[in-house]
Parts: sequence; C-alpha cells; structure tokens
Amino acid sequence: MLSNGLPACSIYILLFLVCSCSNILQNDFRFISSQDLKSSITIFSAEGNTSYSQILFDVSRNQLFLSVRDGLYRLSLSGLKFLEYADWQSPENKKIECTYKGQNEESCHNYIKVLLSNRWHIFVCGTNAFSPVCSWREINNISNVIEVVDGIAKSSYNPTANITAFLSENGEYYFGGPTDFSGSDSLISKTARNMTLRTKQYNSFWLNEPQFIGSFESEKFVYFLFRETAVEHMNCGKTIYSRVARVCKNDYGGIHAIFKDNWTTFLKARLNCSTSGEYPFYFNEIQSMSYVATEQTMYATFTTSPNGIAGSAVCSFHLSAIDEAFNGPFKYQHDMNSAWVKHDNVHLGHYNCMSSLRNNHLLETSKYQLMDSAVQSTSLDPLYTSTLERFTHITVDVVDTKKDSVHILYVATTEGLVKKLSLLPLHGKHKKACVVEVWQVATSIFNMKFLKETSSVYITTNDGLIQIPSAHCKRHTSRANCKNAMDPYCGWNEREESCSVAPFGDPHNRFWIQHINSCPILDSPIDGGWSTWSEWSPCHHKTWANSDSFDQCLCQTRQCNNPQPSNGGRECSGPSIAVTNCTVHGGWSDWSGWSACSATCGTAVKIRLRTCTNPAPAFGGRVCVGQDRLEAFCTEHPPCPAEAVDGGWSPWSPWSSCSTNCGEGYAIRQRKCNNPAPLNGGQYCKGNDIEYNVCRNDSCPEQRRLHTTDWVVIKNASSKVYLRRRFKVTCKAPVRHDQLKLIVRNETQFCYGHQCDSEEPIEHSDWGAWSRWSECSASCGGGIQTRTRDCEKRNCEGESLQTRECNVHDCGSSWIWGCWSDWSPCNATCGWGTRTRRRSCLREGCEGDEFEVQSCQGDSCEPILGGQLEQSSCVASSLSFFFIGAIVGLMPSVVYLSYYFFKRKKNTVPCSPHYITAEQNPYISVPTREKISKKHSSPTSGFYPTNGTVKSLKRYADDYEIPTLKRGSHEMRNGHSKQYENDKHLYD
Ligand SMILES: *[C@@H]1O[C@H](CO)[C@@H](O)[C@H](O)[C@H]1NC(C)=O
Ligand SMILES: *[C@@H]1O[C@H](CO)[C@@H](O)[C@H](O)[C@H]1NC(C)=O
Repeated sequence: MLSNGLPACSIYILLFLVCSCSNILQNDFRFISSQDLKSSITIFSAEGNTSYSQILFDVSRNQLFLSVRDGLYRLSLSGLKFLEYADWQSPENKKIECTYKGQNEESCHNYIKVLLSNRWHIFVCGTNAFSPVCSWREINNISNVIEVVDGIAKSSYNPTANITAFLSENGEYYFGGPTDFSGSDSLISKTARNMTLRTKQYNSFWLNEPQFIGSFESEKFVYFLFRETAVEHMNCGKTIYSRVARVCKNDYGGIHAIFKDNWTTFLKARLNCSTSGEYPFYFNEIQSMSYVATEQTMYATFTTSPNGIAGSAVCSFHLSAIDEAFNGPFKYQHDMNSAWVKHDNVHLGHYNCMSSLRNNHLLETSKYQLMDSAVQSTSLDPLYTSTLERFTHITVDVVDTKKDSVHILYVATTEGLVKKLSLLPLHGKHKKACVVEVWQVATSIFNMKFLKETSSVYITTNDGLIQIPSAHCKRHTSRANCKNAMDPYCGWNEREESCSVAPFGDPHNRFWIQHINSCPILDSPIDGGWSTWSEWSPCHHKTWANSDSFDQCLCQTRQCNNPQPSNGGRECSGPSIAVTNCTVHGGWSDWSGWSACSATCGTAVKIRLRTCTNPAPAFGGRVCVGQDRLEAFCTEHPPCPAEAVDGGWSPWSPWSSCSTNCGEGYAIRQRKCNNPAPLNGGQYCKGNDIEYNVCRNDSCPEQRRLHTTDWVVIKNASSKVYLRRRFKVTCKAPVRHDQLKLIVRNETQFCYGHQCDSEEPIEHSDWGAWSRWSECSASCGGGIQTRTRDCEKRNCEGESLQTRECNVHDCGSSWIWGCWSDWSPCNATCGWGTRTRRRSCLREGCEGDEFEVQSCQGDSCEPILGGQLEQSSCVASSLSFFFIGAIVGLMPSVVYLSYYFFKRKKNTVPCSPHYITAEQNPYISVPTREKISKKHSSPTSGFYPTNGTVKSLKRYADDYEIPTLKRGSHEMRNGHSKQYENDKHLYD
C-alpha cells in the first residue's frame, strides 16, 4: 500500500496527478533531443574508462576533477581539456581477496566514492576492492599522493552504497554511510584532528538502514539527508521515510564511557514532501538534494516507493523550517511495546550547540533522536510532481532575470532526461515550477552538478562527462517564440534580432527584452526550428536534375521539430537534406604533349599520358576505360655508334671426370668468354678458359702389346734363295699405353723365290744335285769355274750349268784365299745355334780368318707368340723407342701382316686383340706422341662432361695430345655395339 494507511485516496490523487500533469511529449518545443543537444554540449571520454562518477570543481584554478573507475582526471573547466590523469588501481592481492570473499570481479575495483577539497589539497576515497582507502593529493598534481589514510568510517566498502561526505571549513571530515564489509553498520561520523565521533552502533533509533543522499553545513550545524526505514511507523510492513539529521559542529562527544565517541547533539526529523489536502499524498523517498546556501534553501527530489506506481516530486525546505522542527518536541517511545509519545525538549541550548551538558543530562538526552514534527516544505504542495517517472539527481542555479532572480532546478530522471524547471518568484504558498526545457541526455545518469561560472550542467555517465550549457535560446527563432519560451536565461536581443542570453551577463541591458511572468506559453503559434543534422549516411540521389540514374551519395537530414511548428507557427525554411560525396564517374584529362625521346640515337620511343582526373572517380564511381599512355617510335634518329663491350668470363664449369680410367690423369674445367661476349672490338677476357687438375684412379689393368715389323732381307744371295727377318716387339705392363716396356725378338725365314718358310727349303725339282765347282780356270787375274747338274727326270726348269768368276784378284797380290765353302747346317735343331764356313789359303801369307761363324736359328722350339712371350719381361731401352718409331710408321702394313700371319697360324692364341680386327677400330686409341701446333680451341671443341665423353682434348699450355678410349659411349649405334661385342670376347 502506498502510504499512511489511506490507499484508496492516494490512488485517486495519483490518478489526478497523472491527468493534470502535462507530460512532455517529444513534439513539445521544450524537448531537446540528444541529437539536437549534441551541437551544444562538450563531452570528455577516455578510451577504456568506465564509471565516471564524482565531479569536483576548482574554479579558482579553472579546473575540475573527475573520478573514473581506478583513476582520477584533472580537466580544464572550459572545454574539458585533459590536464592530468592519476591511475589508482586496487592492488592485485586486494582484488583477489575481494573475489575470494564472494564479490564479483566487477565490484573488486577501486571506485571513487568521495572527492572533496580544502583549498590546497583534494581528499579522495575509493572502495579499493572492498577495502576502502583515502588519500590526500596535491591539487595541481593529483598523481602526487601526500598522505594515504585508512578509509574505514570515511568511505564505503561497496561501490553502490549511498553515502555522503563533507569536509567542513575547519577541516573536520563528516561522513554518512555504511562502514563495514556487509554494509549493515551505517553511521554518521566526524573525524577531527584529535578524535572520531559516530552515531551509536546497531541502534535503529539512531539510524535504521539509512541511504544517505547528501549533507551540508550551516554556521553551527551539519545536516545529513537520507531515507531510512521508519522506526515510528507502527503499521504492518516497512515504510521508508525521508530524514534530515543534524549535529552540532562543536560536538566532541560525551565524557561518560557510554557516550564517549558518540554524538551528543544528534537529532533527526522527517522531511515532508506531500501534496496538500485533506488526504495528503507523501513522496516518501528522498533521492537527491541541493542546498542553496545564499537562500538557505534545500531542494530535494522525492519518489514513491520503488514497489509502487512511479511518481516523483521536487520539494524545497527552508533552513528555518528544518531548525524549527529540531526546536520542537521529541517523538519518544519508552519501550518496544509502548506507543510513541511527544516529549518536550528541555535542553534546547545544548541541541543548539550553546552549552555542554552534565553527564546525567546526557544520559537523558540519549533517549531522544527523533523529532515529533516533520519538516514542512516551503510550499503547500511539491514544487513539481510527475508521474510514471522517477527523479534522481537535482542541482540548482539561481539566475538573475530582468525583474528578479529565479531558481532553476535541473532534475534528472531514471530515463536519462534532465528537466529544466524554473521556479517563478510568485508570492504565497502555492509556488509552482515550470518545465522550461527537457534534455534527452543519457540512459543512466550517475551524477549531476551545476556550475555557475560556466553556467553549465555537468553530468557523469558510465561512459563520460557531459557539459551541457544551461541556455539554448537560439532555438527560439522569433521574438514571440523567444518570449513564449519563458526561459529565464533567454531574452530578445533587439540589436541582434535574436533570442539570446543576457548580453555580457547583464540582464538589465536596454536592448535585451525579457518578460518572465508565467510558465512557457504552449498554445501560441510556435515557429518551426530545424533539428541538428543527422549523421552522414549512404543514400541514393539524382546528381543531375535530368539524369534518370541515381548516384550513391552521403546524405544527412534534419527535421523541423526543434521546435515543431504548432498553433499556426511557421514551417522551417531551407533544405531538410544535405547531399555530399556523390558517386563520381571518372573522365579522362587531355593528352599531355609528347615526352622527349628515350634516347638520342638508334631506337627510341616517346610517350604521352593522360589521367583519369577529369573528374577523378570518387565514392564508388566508374574508373576511366582506355589507355592512359601512348607510345610512338622516334623516327629520323641516327644509328647509335656501336659500343665496345669487353668480354667477361662465364662461371667455371664443374670439374670433368678424370681423363683416364686408370692411373694418374687429369680433370679439366672450362669457362667461356661469353658473359658477355666481347662485342664491337671489346677486349677478350683475360686469363685461361681451361684449368687442369691432377686426378688419380685405380691402378691400370695390365696392358699387352705386340708389334711386328716388315720383313727385311738380311742376306741376299742374289738369287732366288735368301734369308729374311722381321722383328716382333712384345710388351706388357700394368701401365698406361705409353709406358709399355718392350721385348724385341726376331723371326727369320728362308725364301726361295716368293716361297718363304722358317725351315730350310727342301728342293722339289727334278734336277739332280749340283756338281762341285770346277777348278778355276785361272789362279789369279779372273778365271771362271763352272758346275753342272743333270735333269734326272723331266720336270726341270732353269739352267743346267752355272758359272761364276773366281780368282779375280790381281795376280801380283801377295795373299791368295780360296773361295768360301758353303755354310754348314745350323748346329741347333731348334732355337739358336751356330754354323760355319771355311776357305783355304792358296799361298803362303793369307790375312784374315779361315773360319767364319754365324748365329743361326733352328726350327722354332715353340710358337713365337703366346705364353712364351708373355713370360718374358719387358726391357726398356733407347733402342726400343727406335723400334717403336719404326713400328708406328709401318702400322697399316704391320696390322695387315699380323692379321695374315695369325690367320695362317690358327692354333696360335693372340697375345693382344688390338690388331686382329680388319679395320681400324675407332674406339681404340693408339698410343701416339705427336706434336701439335698451338692454336685456340674452338668453343665447340671443348670438353662436355655431361655426356661423359671426351671428343677431343686440346690445350694451349701443353703440347701433347692424349687420345682416349671411347668405349662404353652411350652413343653406341648398332655397328659400334656389335664391334664392342666382338672386341669384348677377345678379352675373355
Ligand atoms: C542507493 O540508492 C539507489 C536509489 O537511489 C538504490 O537503487 C540503491 O540500491 C542504493 N544502494 C544501496 C547499496 O542500497
Ligand atoms: C579536540 O579538540 C577540540 C578543539 O580543537 C576540543 O574542544 C576537544 O575537547 C578535543 N577533544 C578531545 C577528545 O581531546
């Protein structure tokens, strides 16, 4: 039930209020939307900060202090410019402790609850993660902490607690609020230099679950405003009453143990903010207050209980009315079950801070805290009431007008509206406030303060600080509208022909017309006024009137609702939409002139350009299509003189494989003078294009060689019978070809005509044997001897008689040898032996040998080639090389003869395969040492390591060429591979 046991009537009254109260609609000219406010307000907001709450002005230094969660700002008063930030976080261990005790993380920060100053320092208290702490800081350097003070009984633990704090002129600190972790121990305390005073702990007669909303001081007293559970309310259920409590500034507590550290002058009284009539309707719950010291008037907002229908009121109380209640009788309850009775106040002097009491009197006064009569507001009815909304903060300005000073009340609502109320100086008890403007500020207002010096209202929200100027006269565009607005700040400036604040702050200026004699006149014609422009947003717009396509643009709009024209007032004039940044399709600029040619000779080009800037595409417009560059050749240029380019080496090729398969060889690497190649007479590269490096392979397999010379007639008998000889040179060694060592043997044949044989020829003719030579026909001077033979059978060719000269020596000669006999047969049947012949001295005194011995060879004991030869060791000598030279020169015939020879002797195992093939095998090299002429290698005749074959090897530095085997070439064509097969079996 609503209040005071008169529910039915209360509802009627409330309904009456609903009907009678003119709700401010959004199309009322007094309503200023947040959009329209934006053009006049100043905002301070810092990234990452929340809970902007306390504001403290320091007008003399033109600065203000602003608290946020975990920090403190110092800002300039005008413009809210940043001056300083002081970080003030709770220590991490406090935060952990706080969450450990069951508080949520959000609450376990440092929320600034108290922000006060004496003239030189600021005093700040924060919840510090449910561990309140206060600090004194330098007023011009808030980061400089002068002193840290324990926050217990000076600030609250809980960030949401409703507290009030007050620093009196003489430096004593007054505090009202809960002072423990759970918030159950609320107190009003004073901290002076030498002591602390408080209300009695856990005594509901003193304070009963109070919610403090403000405090102020007068000359002798300090007043606290709060609401609490009414202890005197005897009906069922719990009712909240609004209270004002009062203590003497010179109260230093009792002497008696019981009253030590307790107030002796504490009194409280109910605040009555209610509608008048037979059945008054009470707005019981005070929400905010503002004390105007110069008028000794306290303004406060009141609401109905949060459980009931929302209703709010603004009441004002004169200090004299408050003191009057405190000078009246007490309301006193003897014990829990007795009724509340009136009790006269016999210690008025004490409660008026004039005399101190003796102990026994103190004991008596401790029974009384509550005054019997409530404090009556200055008017019969609340100054202003409103239904369906709840007022929160209130702040007051007193503004000089042409006639009188007018109190302007700024009242915030839970919906984030701020109502600007003017309290016209009407006489009598029926004072009424007029709604002059309604500002749409924010969804939730944390704190609100008016500052006369800037004539602005400062509002904190969760997100920042907003400074709103008190006057918005420019909204009223005509003289009539300006007058009808009845805004105490505004008047018609005849000089400027505009609605404005008093020029130079002087309301008595002659040219400034103002007649504030009623609430705003709502039923007169209101000329329309533009709202502020909206934000720019994308829109479609016809850029050209005749165009049939819409361009993409940015538009902003405004409405004619600030104020809305009504009662026949003029419409707004001017466009309601502004367009910008429309899509622009690109267009080409003109071509530039031709550029200079890119070169002064030879092939060169010139260019010309254009750009897509006429206009440049913008805001999503099409880009230009086509080329932005033209090129042309510069004709009629002389050819450029060739420029000499010196050659440069290419990188070295990798090293080739070793030149030999066995033994010691060499590897090469090459490079070419083609990086770049010398050009137009440029220098050839300096240095070698080939490099050699010794390489070593496994030792070579054993090599064998056989050479046979041509036959040489060694004894010509000038007849058909002769002896011929040839030499066989054999060599073997596990070395390279050119290092083979040689063994020389000879072979002798007996020839008869063309018939040759290694054996002495056997006569197969029909001739009989030759007779002996006849005696010489002369003993000297040349005779003739003959011999004959007989043809024994028929098959005889040739002569039967042979003649020869004999004794041809001079007859005068002293020595006379007979003719040599025939050679004796060889004395060896095989191998080497000797044979002899003789002659006889015909006279005394012959000179020379009678016998002649000659080596001879019998039949071959074994075949001359093959195993026997191989077993012989090679003998190297200078003679060998002579033979080799001869052999090489005779090579083709040697080869042929050898072939012939071996064909005939089929039983003979060839000692080397090399000479067996009928034609020259291109895959077999012949050892040669041949001087070649010095010449440059052609670039293509080099060494190509990639196919593993050496085609030819030529070099500058060395004189010798060493041809190499080509066996195993991957280029093996059919013929070659067959050849290879043939060769191969010979090795087996
Ligand atoms: C402080 O007062 C407001 C209303 O003015 C209320 O919503 C809030 O709960 C109060 N704080 C505490 C801790 O009770
Ligand atoms: C504290 O100081 C004031 C004056 O400064 C004095 O009147 C009062 O008695 C002192 N209180 C105590 C407890 O000393």
